[in-house]
Amino acid sequence: MTPQHGLFEEPGNRAQYLEYTLKQGVALDDIKCALRRATSRLPNVFIAIAFGSNCWNSLQPLWRPTQLSDFVEQASAKGHLMPATQQDIFFWVHGETSSDVMPAVIQVSQAMAVIADLTLDLNGYKAPDARIITGFVDGTGNPKGDKRHTAAVVPDGQIGAGGSYVLGQKWTHKLPEFLQLSVPAQEQVMGRTKETNIEMEGAAMPTNSHVARTDIDVNDTPMKMYRRGTPYGNAGDYGLYFLAFACEQTRFEHVIDSMLGKDDGVTDAMMDYSDAKTGSYWFMPSQEDLDALLMA
Ligand code: HEM
Repeated sequence: MTPQHGLFEEPGNRAQYLEYTLKQGVALDDIKCALRRATSRLPNVFIAIAFGSNCWNSLQPLWRPTQLSDFVEQASAKGHLMPATQQDIFFWVHGETSSDVMPAVIQVSQAMAVIADLTLDLNGYKAPDARIITGFVDGTGNPKGDKRHTAAVVPDGQIGAGGSYVLGQKWTHKLPEFLQLSVPAQEQVMGRTKETNIEMEGAAMPTNSHVARTDIDVNDTPMKMYRRGTPYGNAGDYGLYFLAFACEQTRFEHVIDSMLGKDDGVTDAMMDYSDAKTGSYWFMPSQEDLDALLMA
């Protein structure tokens, strides 16, 4: 079973993140027809598609990914909120140039207009040095090579093999507050140095830094995930669309619990300077399972 086209195509310098909710009363055949049109292959661009739990049940009643459930709103004891805005269908359109991505975005939007309402539409971009809007490098701790597949894809022999659990969250940055901190204080928040992008070691790593809260093991298994989110934005609204793929949804749940300090009351300092605005879990079926699901 093979992951959907483009999952591991990097860097993906341009992206569009589209979330949809299905309109009431649309016939299943019409939904499948629209999704086939939306995902038709175009040159130099990848149109990945993933589904929320309810939508999955309607589209594929024969089997379901064992761990797939809706994102549930959660908060830390300090009041950081991770809202749930679960939708039905997610598109990750990505390529290397806007001129490659845009025709695919239009194809998706025209096909989907009949069956669903657009609830999120964000443009993403990647800087050549992978720095995000806060000035830190993002993606360094991502698995590399074959380890990407192990972290991101449900193994053969399991239900949903070749597919991935997906977490999508739009985060806005409180940039003035963050940049008001001295650079060493910003580095304490993230757990890496800013200019040189070096991870803090041992006692120098603050327990509430973002890296300390997200680089975790559960029962001796590292909760590795494959992150493909990027900065997004315009003048009035900018931040990071967090997008990650994992072989188990529970990996996201454990890392989110750690960020929110569910076990030890220590919250991720990054959340003092960025707010989660959306949150959805999706399942991105393998290419073969997608083809079967969309069959007329
Ligand atoms: C505003 C939101 C976020 C920003 C700006 C952000 C930024 C960063 C940065 C700069 C790093 C360090 C470099 C790297 O390894 O990539 C990092 C690491 C990481 N982040 Fe985030 N992140 C955000 C949200 C999240 C969320 C919501 C999760 C998980 C649910 C997450 C999971 C991780 C993981 C797993 C690592 C790698 C840790 C390691 O193994 O070293 N991040 N993030």
